[in-house]
Amino acid sequence: MDDAAERIFAALRDVSQSGAPLYLQLKKNIEEAVKRGLIGPGDALPSERDIAAEADISRVTVRKAVQDLVKSGVLVQRHGSGTFVAPRMERVEQSLSRLTSFTEDMARRGMAARSQWLDRGIYTASPDEMMVLGLSASELVSRLSRLRIADETPLAIERATISASVLPDPHEVTSSLYMALGKTGHRPVRAVQRISAVNLGEAEAQLLAVPMGSACLQIERISYLASGKVIEFTKSIYRGDAYDFVAELRLPGPDGQEGEGT
Ligand code: GLP
Repeated sequence: MDDAAERIFAALRDVSQSGAPLYLQLKKNIEEAVKRGLIGPGDALPSERDIAAEADISRVTVRKAVQDLVKSGVLVQRHGSGTFVAPRMERVEQSLSRLTSFTEDMARRGMAARSQWLDRGIYTASPDEMMVLGLSASELVSRLSRLRIADETPLAIERATISASVLPDPHEVTSSLYMALGKTGHRPVRAVQRISAVNLGEAEAQLLAVPMGSACLQIERISYLASGKVIEFTKSIYRGDAYDFVAELRLPGPDGQEGEGT
């Protein structure tokens, strides 16, 4: 038996000592073992069968505890190779002064970006979308909702809306929205972002593989073409444990105007 497995079993021995349901005790023990560093990021968990035999509990109980820990992001499951302690999140430092896309940001860090589509279609514009994109009630929009993933870690949920007159077929967007917009000369050149703090509800926490109620950053980006026309309205939710947003601040010029270059 390898070291990690031994340490997990040492931490499991006191399951069934208290009156709490067994799966909750097992879950707490595994969580504790991770928290105390007895098992580290990337360590493999022993098989369900081994844990059940060692802790003298049923495999159904083990499965329930493990599934809960996968949902809350403590463990990850890889098909065919087993269950592991989730890799520690490397924080991503994101400049607030450059207008870049998720795909570009990740590529710059040497990370492979991909998306899981949550929704992609043509809709009638909501009152918010009409107002921001300057559309009338009869106009349609392309909506693109994606879970943004870098190196297999879900980092953000993004819901983008583009006028259907600019993007008539949302399926034209494959890996990058900005790349698709660039192809038709609609890549934004300026954007305004509003960032606020929120706690995640259950569905979004599950998608981002973090515990429900986790702190995260809600970002609204409204971006513009050089002509001043609004091109994109995107609402995103970024994992609070994964992102640092960095802004450079400068003294205002003598006339009270913003300094050069801002
Ligand atoms: C960032 C922004 C989004 C923008 C997206 C485009 O994540 N927050 O507002 O829509 O980049 O990224 P991509 O071109 O990779 O789809």
